Amino acid sequence: MTVYQKRRALVAKALKAAGGGIAILPTAPESPRNRDSDFPYRHDSYLFYLTGFSEPDSWLAIDSSGKTTLFCRPKDLEREIWDGIRLGPKAAVAGLNVDAAFSVDELDAKMPLLLSNQQAVWFPFATHRGLETQVDGWLGKVRARIRFGAECPQSQHDLCKLLDEMRLIKDVHEIAILRRAGAISAGAHVRAMQTSSSMLRKPPKSAGYLVPREYHLEAELLHEFRRHGSQYPAYTSIVAAGANACILHYRADTAELKAGDLCLIDAGCELDGYASDITRTFPANGKFTPAQRTLYDIVLAAQEAAIKVTKPGKRFTDPHDAATRVLVQGMLDVGLLDKKKHGSVDDVLLSGAYRQFYMHRTGHWMGMDVHDCGDYTEPGSKPRPERDPLGEMVMKKPPRILRAGMVLTIEPGIYVRPAKGVPKEFWNIGIRIEDDALVTAKGCELMTRGVPVKADEIEALMC
Ligand code: GLY
Ligand code: MN
Ligand code: MN
Repeated sequence: MTVYQKRRALVAKALKAAGGGIAILPTAPESPRNRDSDFPYRHDSYLFYLTGFSEPDSWLAIDSSGKTTLFCRPKDLEREIWDGIRLGPKAAVAGLNVDAAFSVDELDAKMPLLLSNQQAVWFPFATHRGLETQVDGWLGKVRARIRFGAECPQSQHDLCKLLDEMRLIKDVHEIAILRRAGAISAGAHVRAMQTSSSMLRKPPKSAGYLVPREYHLEAELLHEFRRHGSQYPAYTSIVAAGANACILHYRADTAELKAGDLCLIDAGCELDGYASDITRTFPANGKFTPAQRTLYDIVLAAQEAAIKVTKPGKRFTDPHDAATRVLVQGMLDVGLLDKKKHGSVDDVLLSGAYRQFYMHRTGHWMGMDVHDCGDYTEPGSKPRPERDPLGEMVMKKPPRILRAGMVLTIEPGIYVRPAKGVPKEFWNIGIRIEDDALVTAKGCELMTRGVPVKADEIEALMC
């Protein structure tokens, strides 16, 4: 069995265990960019997870007996001359190991037949625009046949819930691709760091001199991703020179890389449907200033504390809590937070004053999507009352317990915007350090450490 057949068999088993039914799943639509030009096509992750098929206009149906039906674009010589080869339904049966395959033109005719006499229908809720209406239309056609002996599914369920749980634990096939994606991205960060310092070393009047800018480093990243076979970046690359690093969703733009400034790069490639997500912050010319180094070492210590508690049995929030504690201690030690005003580490954790400098979480699931699917709370657990950051009591479910095979990022940071009471030496410094962790039997494996993270090692790489 292929890995996709195994996954589909697990879906069928889950449908059976839930009382029987059929799961239906479309791929992602194409998206026009402007006249006659589309955004690069990216398949739907769920459909790809179950088929490995990435053509647009595809649908998959799996019923609880294990029967799989695929709908795809029909062969069409004229369209294939313009847009490329299509697999076509005939070849899809053997190519994708499905039981039946039809042209997508037959979708509306065949789907009511597939839905007839099924106990339940499972499809992704709130992810594909218009899908609910489409399913309603097919169910309407089934109901119209009730007099002729057809039974209509009695209930509808969110297929994402089922698939998200499967996708949360990565299998060996996925882990191999994630490791490779992480290695490619790490190499791209190394290349960008080295380009930065070598561009800054070049004398301004020398032959071929270019004012070094953010987009030069972005170009290096893209080159490195692509030359190793990555199809595209997993998300829009952030290359943020100097104060731009304090803008969390900054995009690589035209700002100059200057000696004495830091550069923050948050970029990762997508390889064969799987993401990577790395952030490194380095001195543009290869040498940290004392103030930069002080904050850098705090963020790195925070990441190390988070890594230590990224292991089976710990909760998803434990790495965040461990990192935040170290960051807060550092903020008090260096005077970003005034001890007299803010008190102890515990006082600051309670008041949330640290959010002036650290306003995001320390990680997220990662896999096919850079912010991957999967519940962040423990399934089956009961909500319990807890105080939220604004002091309100809310009912919360306990955070997810980490298990081997989960993949998450570990990405603490400190971002210092100029403000009254904040030591000037730290103004406009933004630092984030991010690696991708695979939870293993005893701890975690960092899949992105092909790029150095210690300040001394970064300086050595860039000299
Ligand atoms: N690159 C997006 C993130 O770090 O979450
Ligand atoms: Mn991330
Ligand atoms: Mn990132």
